[in-house]
Amino acid sequence: MGNFKLKQSDDLAGSDQREPVAGVLAQSLADTYTLYLKTQNFHWNVEGPRFVGIHTLTEEHYQNLALAVDTLAERIRALGFYAPGSYKEYAQMSSIEEVEGGALDSEKMLKTLVDDHMSLVSKIKESIEVAEKHGDSTTADMLSERRDFHEQAAWMLRSLGK
Ligand SMILES: [Fe+2]
Repeated sequence: MGNFKLKQSDDLAGSDQREPVAGVLAQSLADTYTLYLKTQNFHWNVEGPRFVGIHTLTEEHYQNLALAVDTLAERIRALGFYAPGSYKEYAQMSSIEEVEGGALDSEKMLKTLVDDHMSLVSKIKESIEVAEKHGDSTTADMLSERRDFHEQAAWMLRSLGK
């Protein structure tokens, strides 16, 4: 996440242990927010014979992502840090490459989303290890759920493209 530094909001016991966990949560928040917008972009702009399938599945996925950003951000707050809340911060932290709105081949849309979800699966796996290492099983469980979602989303998008 480059040199992004989270701002502490509360001086809680074990803040040293909490900070790296809040850091990986902030990364997930930035990735999730960026993928949320990208998923919606494709939901809006998809064209062609796969329109209904992609339009419908992306709606399901962006709804999940929208709820997830709230959960992730509020976990950061519970750990005693402020949640990043601007596109500028997300762009700094996110590993998801943005795509401008416009015409894009539907096969490419599916491929880029599958790749994004799969890259988040492996990123989140590392984040779970960070949470576990710092004794935060609540965050580890939350992130495991996120990993499961991305794995399932990738499978659905992959299957739709066949
Ligand atoms: Fe819609």
